[in-house]
Amino acid sequence: MRIPAIGATLGLCLTIALPAISTAETVADLLPQADSAKGEKAFKKCKACHTVDQGGKKKTGPNLFGIVGAPVASVDGYKYSKALVALGGTWSVDQLDAFLTKPKALVKGTKMTFAGMKKATDRANLIAYLNQNSDAPLSFEATPATVNANAAEEDAYEYGILFDAPGVEETYYACSACHSEMIVAQQGLSRDGWLELFEWMVEDQGMDEFEEPERTIILDYLTAHYGEDRPNFPGKKN
Ligand code: HEC
Ligand code: HEC
Repeated sequence: MRIPAIGATLGLCLTIALPAISTAETVADLLPQADSAKGEKAFKKCKACHTVDQGGKKKTGPNLFGIVGAPVASVDGYKYSKALVALGGTWSVDQLDAFLTKPKALVKGTKMTFAGMKKATDRANLIAYLNQNSDAPLSFEATPATVNANAAEEDAYEYGILFDAPGVEETYYACSACHSEMIVAQQGLSRDGWLELFEWMVEDQGMDEFEEPERTIILDYLTAHYGEDRPNFPGKKN
């Protein structure tokens, strides 16, 4: 259980803090138009380490139900780093935004090894999704200037340098949680080799054990496209 937040009026503070004219897109600007369905997709980057459903289990990281507006480091029974406890305060939109942009920049010494999420629209969509997973969601009111802010969206390939084939999505989100996908693409392993690597990731590197069918999907993908003949080695010409 989370200790309830004191400031239920965070949404309001947000609107007041906005500059009248601003070309730079801040997450606060984008939130009123944020797309929580896209945020749910973005949450795949977090799923290796977090659940977000009410009463969800802790993984490497704490359960995130009700995180928006909650006091920092308040899940009972989760062993936080001293650095995160020292941060204090609540997960206001601004503080959460700063953390998700680059966790180690806001909290030097946090044990969240996630590199960060660069695009403001991605963070806004994600925060909107997290906000929905709550007993007391904040309301993000639209201001006229923001109405079209989130309209332009490119449909760019989202899985970095990983080969486009069934299983790429699962593999990308599971394996780029802690390091770049480049590390994965540079390997060329047999199926058994990948299996051994999974075991090593779980035993020594803090990865959570995969569940089925995810495990087989990822294993099939890696074996087919990052096998011993290294068909997709980065930079290799076909
Ligand atoms: C590689 C594992 C990992 C990934 C990936 C990850 N986190 Fe975390 N997260 C952690 C750990 C571990 C902590 C505890 C940090 C500490 O105690 O310093 C944490 C803490 C947090 C907290 C603070 C929770 C609290 O109760 O105060 C938030 C918020 C959070 N993560 C959000 C996210 C979101 C959103 C994503 C996806 C964009 C994400 N994390 C991705 C491991 C991860
Ligand atoms: C919980 C964090 C975490 C997750 C999730 C994770 N890894 Fe790793 N991985 C590490 C760490 C830590 C290292 C060692 C440090 C480094 O090289 O960055 C590492 C190193 C590696 C290496 C380099 C091995 C070498 O020879 O140097 C490969 C390959 C790799 N990981 C593949 C994967 C694959 C494939 C997945 C997805 C199935 C995955 N990792 C998921 C944490 C993780």
